[in-house]
Amino acid sequence: MTSRIAVLASGGGSNLQAILDHFDYLGERRGGSVVVVASNRAQAGALDRATRRDIPAAVLQSEKQSTGTELGALLDQHEIDLIVLAGYLKLIPSDVVARYAGRIVNVHPALLPAFGGPGMYGERVHRAVLDSGAKVTGVTVHFVDDVYDRGRIIAQWPVPVFSHDDVGSLGARVLRVEHLVYPRVVDAVAAGRTTLANCGASTEQGFVDVRPSFTLLPHEDSRLVENIELALGC
Ligand code: GRF
Repeated sequence: MTSRIAVLASGGGSNLQAILDHFDYLGERRGGSVVVVASNRAQAGALDRATRRDIPAAVLQSEKQSTGTELGALLDQHEIDLIVLAGYLKLIPSDVVARYAGRIVNVHPALLPAFGGPGMYGERVHRAVLDSGAKVTGVTVHFVDDVYDRGRIIAQWPVPVFSHDDVGSLGARVLRVEHLVYPRVVDAVAAGRTTLANCGASTEQGFVDVRPSFTLLPHEDSRLVENIELALGC
């Protein structure tokens, strides 16, 4: 199975880029293709990244989003199988969530259910982590339902918090792991290897084992990837 993917993003789109790069790397083995990128912000860098790749880029009018009509039409037009949220700051309308149950994923820059929910995005997440005194944060990829950051968790990866961290240094460390984890999970969901049904805690398949892998020095990306792929079973 391969999926036609819509990526929704409000910001710079570095996670979109990581997904596109990983799919390029996988080539014919990839589980899907990004066929449209949409944003609620016309100036979102993610739209430029899409345009540079000749991927259709769309701006969603914020005021219409409570009904999902506009988004629904875009998804129909591009025959979308899977919606990938990559720094998308709007709640997905409930009619779209219902139609795409188990086919919408999101990445969150902390270990949910901690440091999530309405208003917890971007630097606010890392600020809250630092203010709490937590020594570990991380990355969560989850299926999306109609409540912010609450859907079934697919994958998590830990990231250490150091005493000398500020929002910038911590955010960069977390984002680096997002770029490694999210594309691999998106590929697993797009290919049908991971589903809402098989990623529950009671089944082994698709459940990601969180191991204390603080392998975060620049030269150790490949080791981190090795561990992530081992845990994802891909
Ligand atoms: C990421 O930290 C992601 O976890 C959060 O928003 C940020 C998006 O960054 N949901 P980018 O636009 O992918 O660079």
